Amino acid sequence: RIVHVNGEYFPEDQARVSVFDRGFLFADAVYEVTSVLDGKLIDFPGHAARLARSLAELDMDMPVTEEEILSIHREMVTRNDITDGLVYLQVTRGAVDRDFLFPEDAQPTIVLFTQAKPGLADSPAARTGLKVVTLPDRRWGRRDIKTVQLLYPSMAKTEAKRQGADDAWLVEDGHVTEGTSNNAYIVRNGTIVTRQLGEEILHGITRRAVLAFAREAQMKVEERPFTVEEARSAEEAFVTSASAFVMPVVEIDGRPVGDGQPGPVARRLREIYLEESR
Ligand code: PDD
Repeated sequence: RIVHVNGEYFPEDQARVSVFDRGFLFADAVYEVTSVLDGKLIDFPGHAARLARSLAELDMDMPVTEEEILSIHREMVTRNDITDGLVYLQVTRGAVDRDFLFPEDAQPTIVLFTQAKPGLADSPAARTGLKVVTLPDRRWGRRDIKTVQLLYPSMAKTEAKRQGADDAWLVEDGHVTEGTSNNAYIVRNGTIVTRQLGEEILHGITRRAVLAFAREAQMKVEERPFTVEEARSAEEAFVTSASAFVMPVVEIDGRPVGDGQPGPVARRLREIYLEESR
């Protein structure tokens, strides 16, 4: 694989970042994951806009212009011969002597790599659906900033696997916030319910597109917190993310959602999303 570091392209075993990088020492870094289908970046402007917002919230400078970031993404897709897969981008505050204070003069570190995922859009999980378990949301309070502090989501996903599920839905004050790496939805009385934007969840780029397509298709959407009880007795459940698109959830805490099969709303939204965003 070819990896991008600070303006240069390296074979992955020659790519280097300092041990003093604040991304490594403090998780002082933000990231984006953009899907590639048929060699085409999906919703790049959305990811670029969120990157700019994450950086601004942390008082970090955009290391290069949005046009340059786009051309690096394209270059990575070409150099790594990605048909279907992902481009991962991370920007850290840079490498400086270890200190809790934000440095004034650090040069940001920018790293990109790709992951090939042949057949990404027709993953078997979309046909069978995911099993989730609910776990407490113990992340920090600014989940709207896409930082690389992913330890708790990793712990939660690992615990979900240990319990025989595919993923966890995180719960705060009795309400589902989101999945470990996706936004969470239920369908009740034909209405799509998903938590409203705020500091408690990541503002998913796929979420925004999917809700717009749902509204265009005259589906009813309510943006509000929903309880674990509501989720367990919902007609349908699903998640969205750049890498999973729209993925049905068929089991919550060991109990089937609806008839335990991927529901019509999730299936339809997945179809529309893949059709419209390609
Ligand atoms: N995760 N919520 C969380 C906590 C996430 O980590 C993600 C994305 C999402 C969905 O956002 P989007 O639709 O913009 O991908 C929601 C990425 C895919 C990851 O960490 O790999």
